Amino acid sequence: MFFQTLTLGLTVSLLTAATPVEHGVARSVPLPKRTSLTTSEGVFNHDLAVLQSIATRKQNLINLKKNVGLQAFNEGAEIKPLAQIPSGLQARSPASEPLIDEEDDSEWAGTIQIGTPGQSFLIDFDTGSSDLWVPSSNCRSATCSTKHKYTPSSSGTSIAKSGTFSIEYGDGSTVSGPIFSDTVTVAGVKAVNQTFSAVTTLSSSFQGDPIDGVLGMAFPQLSNLDADPFFNTAYLQGAVSQGVFAFKLASTGSVLDLGSTNPDQYSGSVEYHDIETSSGFWQATGAKIVIDHATRVSGFDTVIDSGTTIMYGPPSAVKTVYAAIPGAKLFDTENGFYSFPCSSNHRVAFSWGGKQWDVTAANFNLGQTESGSTQCVGAIAGQDLGLGDNVWLLGDSFMKNVYTVFSFDRNAVGFAELA
Ligand SMILES: *[C@@H]1O[C@H](CO)[C@@H](O)[C@H](O)[C@H]1NC(C)=O
Repeated sequence: MFFQTLTLGLTVSLLTAATPVEHGVARSVPLPKRTSLTTSEGVFNHDLAVLQSIATRKQNLINLKKNVGLQAFNEGAEIKPLAQIPSGLQARSPASEPLIDEEDDSEWAGTIQIGTPGQSFLIDFDTGSSDLWVPSSNCRSATCSTKHKYTPSSSGTSIAKSGTFSIEYGDGSTVSGPIFSDTVTVAGVKAVNQTFSAVTTLSSSFQGDPIDGVLGMAFPQLSNLDADPFFNTAYLQGAVSQGVFAFKLASTGSVLDLGSTNPDQYSGSVEYHDIETSSGFWQATGAKIVIDHATRVSGFDTVIDSGTTIMYGPPSAVKTVYAAIPGAKLFDTENGFYSFPCSSNHRVAFSWGGKQWDVTAANFNLGQTESGSTQCVGAIAGQDLGLGDNVWLLGDSFMKNVYTVFSFDRNAVGFAELA
């Protein structure tokens, strides 16, 4: 039994434009912008896409091996050497540069508080990792200069822990710093003694990014801090009534619902699908992809990851998918991006044995290969991310089409039509 009822169904409204309004138990927080992979001129931002692909985290697999052991790995999964940023790209485009100024972009971020009294941070809620970190007041690097920083001495509930946190992203850059526990509050949901890191070094890729830090929402076994993630702590402490959270990702009115689903956000019922929990990810099994009403690839697993922008599949499977789209061709051999005729209109959908969940044409199209081109880049790239032979990674390009439910109670992810 749980004793707190006030926190039932709290909503973090991730509004991009509207002034936050508080009514009842629903809390709204204003949201910053996030760079999309399409420029305001409608052209694919190739450099940024490559950098993001490289940064797609491999650290999780390293943690999984450490925390659970090799037997938890998906068949064919392996820890790959960390990818390098191509030197030409580095020279052409600093990682930080494109992350600033896009118009119609949105980041699935919201404000959280850490400490007593609360210190506020703008946080990326990431279902593909399991650690919480924010910049430390001791961070002296330029990357930290524009960010909110955690000052332990200003919090009456801060406790310094032993050890150092570090996480290495795919581009070889690291975030690291000392470990603390403190009270963490998200939309009124409070986790006491939550373990997190106040990082003193941040990779340059975070420079210019409006977010201060990341709050991981995957399973504890992926945690580099070796600690329960925020939501799990809050649930164990009774701060939420159900082990469920859900995202609506949209250009306006994005929400993260904690502790229950919000019927106002979706229509019909939620279709749940079992997950392969041993991977530590929200990994739904038994997926297929449909192009123009015909199944092209089936029987694969899908990691549902709010921290990844587009969708990735194994190179051979993705090749099969684009073969079903007339005029589609490999556009970037190294990174597995394909282009297709911008004027064509093909249905792209995923199914886990129930409904077919469409990726809208707008969400599938990342923009023209270059200004004036009639070819556009598709939001599914063929890359071996080391997650396993048969595992796809579905990021925001998929999640934007549905209300996505993450349920510890059911060991399932669920999808519902947006209201
Ligand atoms: C949090 O940590 C403090 C200090 O160690 C302890 O007194 C308190 O009982 C802890 N609270 C919870 C809910 O774990």
